[in-house]
Amino acid sequence: MGSCFGAFVVRTYTKTYRMYIDGEWVSGSAHFDDTNPATEESLARFPSGSGEDVNRAVDAAEEAFKGWSEMPPPRRGRILQRTADMLRRDKERLGILVATEMGKVMPEALGDVQEAIDIFEYFAGEGRRLLGNTTTSELRDKFAMTVRRPVGVMGLITPWNFPFAIPAWKLSAALICGNTIVFKPSSDTPLCAYELVRILGSAGVPEGVINFVTGSATVVGQGIVRHQRVEGISFTGSKSTGDWITRNAGLKKVGLELGGKNPVIVMDDADLNLAVEGIIWGAFGTTGQRCTATSRVIAGKKIRKKLVDMLLARTKKLRLGPGVLKTTDVGPLINKEALEKSEKYVAIGREEGARLLCGGERPKGKGYFYKPTIFDEVRRGMRIAREEIFGPVLSVLESEGIDDAIDIANSVEYGLSSSIYTRDINNAFRAIEGIEAGLTYVNASTIGSEVHLPFGGVKATGHTREAGIAGIDEFSHLKTVYVDYSGRLQKAQIDVE
Ligand code: UN1
Repeated sequence: MGSCFGAFVVRTYTKTYRMYIDGEWVSGSAHFDDTNPATEESLARFPSGSGEDVNRAVDAAEEAFKGWSEMPPPRRGRILQRTADMLRRDKERLGILVATEMGKVMPEALGDVQEAIDIFEYFAGEGRRLLGNTTTSELRDKFAMTVRRPVGVMGLITPWNFPFAIPAWKLSAALICGNTIVFKPSSDTPLCAYELVRILGSAGVPEGVINFVTGSATVVGQGIVRHQRVEGISFTGSKSTGDWITRNAGLKKVGLELGGKNPVIVMDDADLNLAVEGIIWGAFGTTGQRCTATSRVIAGKKIRKKLVDMLLARTKKLRLGPGVLKTTDVGPLINKEALEKSEKYVAIGREEGARLLCGGERPKGKGYFYKPTIFDEVRRGMRIAREEIFGPVLSVLESEGIDDAIDIANSVEYGLSSSIYTRDINNAFRAIEGIEAGLTYVNASTIGSEVHLPFGGVKATGHTREAGIAGIDEFSHLKTVYVDYSGRLQKAQIDVE
């Protein structure tokens, strides 16, 4: 591969891995291949977990719950802090793993690991807070407050696009709240998940608290979601799977982070150089495979042509290649299905009459690569303007003024991230107020959230918030406590003075 990382990559990942259930590493009877998306070669083999493995994982989590939930939260916090320290010590090796297994470029791969470090550190501190409220009572000699309680056994089902950060968001919050866990990672990035689980074990998470079950969505994923004794589910992934979970999880506490169709509004008064940098980063960073990726540019009428020329010039300079190479700007897509999805949407865009400006094809050779693609003259009703592609395909639409731009931004079912480039404070505040999304950036791209602020969406994206203090809500419930120290029967609403 000619890179300084090449030898390392080949040396490390050539074996069959195991699952981690009840503190033991257990083999499977069948296995699946974990594939390097840049070479299409197998990196490792992981067990295809069975329904029985899920049951054993739930039993173990249930068994471990009492001890873990009764451990003082600051002590749980120390384990999270050690996890952060261990991740930091291993950051470069883990970054190389992310770039190899998932395919993103090294700076982003290191960022993925950094985001995991940040959130473990953040929620370590939460061990000394986990705040409830105290308040007044309508009766004399009565004290009222709320305290946080864990949900119980929780199923965490995670995607491949942030193979460290997203599992870390969920694991850190779930653990600090005192839950025990059955964790099913994406079958595209089980090795990153394995490393995270191994590190958590070494940092002191007791046996049975985290159970790691690899395998298919139909056996392992569905088994967790339908399991009677799993109390909560936290899922990040596609809308169709989110829909399935909603219909099948019964009365569990369910957290969902689903798709996006994130717009960047560029007003006529914007700093176009800045906007171009943000759009390229948002659309083609991570090869467009973020829920927060920029997939629509909504450009002011006066500047659209100029903006498109500038975007085109920048896009043509982007170099495709394996994530581990220093010369690469855009890595591969995750797998064959993802590649076919981008191909399908480009064909749809052409049929719908949008103007293909660049890309629109895969380069020759091995690997799931697809050229960064821009469509101009896209209209809001088109499928490429409405449906999530999760690849390097950007649509440019034209707008007439701020109200029209916001209207276009809101004309999709999703509502995760959004952005506006403008020098006019009035436009900025209109967008902050008017765009239906969980995140709005002003003069910055649609990607790049920070762990101490809430992350999540509205509409078909789901309404959960992860990260930040709000992230605790998904993994705990508030118990309301009344302490009556009057020594007599007092009746709320009735004993009114
Ligand atoms: C995702 O796209 O699934 O804001 C998560 C960002 C990252 C997280 C993205 N911090 O782009």
